[in-house]
Order: sequence, then C-alpha cells, then structure tokens
Amino acid sequence: MKILVSDPLSNVGIEIFQNTPGVEVDVKTDLSPSELEGIIGEYHGLSIRSKTKVTASLIAKAKNLKVVGRAGIGLDNVDIPAATNAGIAVMNTPFGNTITTAEHTIALLMALSRNIPRATATMKEGKWEKKNLKGREIFNKTLGLVGIGNIGSIVADRAMGLRMKVIACDPYQDDRIFETLGIELVSFDEILAKSDYISIHTPKNDETTHLFNKKTLSMMKKGAMLINCARGGIVHEDDLYEALKSNHLGGAALDVFETEPPGILNLMELDNFICSSHLGASTHEAQDNVARDVATQIVGYLLDGDAPNIVNPSNECT
Ligand code: MLT
Repeated sequence: MKILVSDPLSNVGIEIFQNTPGVEVDVKTDLSPSELEGIIGEYHGLSIRSKTKVTASLIAKAKNLKVVGRAGIGLDNVDIPAATNAGIAVMNTPFGNTITTAEHTIALLMALSRNIPRATATMKEGKWEKKNLKGREIFNKTLGLVGIGNIGSIVADRAMGLRMKVIACDPYQDDRIFETLGIELVSFDEILAKSDYISIHTPKNDETTHLFNKKTLSMMKKGAMLINCARGGIVHEDDLYEALKSNHLGGAALDVFETEPPGILNLMELDNFICSSHLGASTHEAQDNVARDVATQIVGYLLDGDAPNIVNPSNECT
C-alpha cells in the first residue's frame, strides 16, 4: 500500500508508516495542486493537515485512493461528498489536539483580560503603560460556551478550576453531559445575554456561519468579550469590528479567520482586539498526538479495515 503525506506531519506519524510492513510512504509537502493531481493516482492513502485541498478535481484523478486522513479536526479542506461518491473514506483525529486547543482558549481569555499583548508591545517601545492597561479578574465571571463537545468540555473544566461560572448551549449534546460537567444548560440567547465571556467551540457549517453577526453581537452584554478558537467565519469580522470600535464589546480574541492568512484586517487597528495565527492546535504534544492517530488510523484502515473516526461512514471497510 502506498501512502502520500502531503502536509507536514510530526515524525511520530512518519515512523509509523515507515515501520509498518506492507506500507510504503512518500513525504512530499510542497506540491502545487497540479503536481499533486499528477501523482495522486499512485496512492492508496493520503495524509493531510489543512494546507492540501482535497477537491473534486483531485479526487477524480485519485484512482487508487481508499482513504484520506486529516491530522487534526477540521475538514473544511476536503470535498467530503466527492470523496463519498468515489468510495473514499475520510477520517479525522478528533481527540489528539483537544487539550492544547482548550489551553489556547484559556490563554487568549487571560491575555485579553489582562492586556498582555499591549503590555508587551508598549514595553518593547520603551513605554511603561501601567495606568492605561488596567485589566479585569475572571474570578466569578460567567463564561458562556457555544458548543460543548471535545474541546468545549475541556474549556469548561479548566474555567471552573479558575472559579468561573460556566454556562453552555449545544443542541447536539445529550443533556447528561451538562450534569456530568456540572454546568448549566441554557439557550443561545441566554448565552448572549448572560455571559461576561463567550467562547466558540462549534464546527463551521450552514448553521454556524456568521452566527456572531451585527444582531447577535448587539445582544451580548455591554463590555463582554468574545473568543474564537474554532473556525474562521463563525464570527462576521466586519460586524465584530463595529462592535469593538463602538465599545459595545470589551474585547475579542480570534485565533481563526474567514480567510487564512487574513492579511491586515480593520480589526487589527483596535486596542481591544488580540489575535493569533491559528495556533490553537500548535503544540509539540498535540502535533505528535494527531500524527500518531492519523498514521495508526490510515494503516489500520488499509491493512485491517479498522474504521475509527470516519466522517462518511458509508465508506467504512470498502
Ligand atoms: C484542527 O482542525 O485540528 C485545528 O484547527 C488545527 C489545524 O487546523 O491544524
């Protein structure tokens, strides 16, 4: 079986491919879309992260491909219906980077509350901005989580450890998870009305695209802060700019953007906006975890028909 690794993958994953009898692996991470289309026909498995675009056109050339494995969670870069029609299984690794992403959410929440990016930037300019950078405590503040899946539930746990009050909405989770976590289940409108901080942990889909827009941002508490480490485009960036500029919102932190990289956005001129370059899953630990998971899953699928974390299950064990 031949496997192509077309986006950078931690060595932990490459070694699994190399050490599995019956598997041959090629690592080619700088291919243009046409170069990839030119060689994809040779491969049975494809390991990607977010850079490789698995389009319908690529899939049409992938005559031997049986499985696409994403080292990470988001599958926005894969045409899943086209893969399904071609009988190709698509899998992700939903657990390996959850702690890391939850920790990044808490890091942004803290950095926003205590003006750490501005303190760093102004000190590097030789300024001692003590009076202007007064922050706020997070103790006893209400954190509203939109989505309480693998990452949202870890954020809830960490935030409760910091003695925040946590409320959440998630129409796709069993009510028991709220009991298990010890947090209050509320509606989306209540999240908007009650939260001092809102953090987003949903996939991007038709229901969540621009979920945070002019109307819903205006329903947030005055001075509240918004954090998005989930997917770009769930927050309408121009509407967020207006909500921050008018000081209706106290601050916002985005790790993800509608277009990545986003270039210079209006948002970046605002002192109450902070950002990071889609670093949510970027730790050594998380990248080793997802590389191990994706390699094990691809090999298991190709050699033994194991099918964990397949998102188009009609293709299990084809
Ligand atoms: C994910 O979907 O796993 C994260 O957003 C990280 C990434 O895109 O690499």
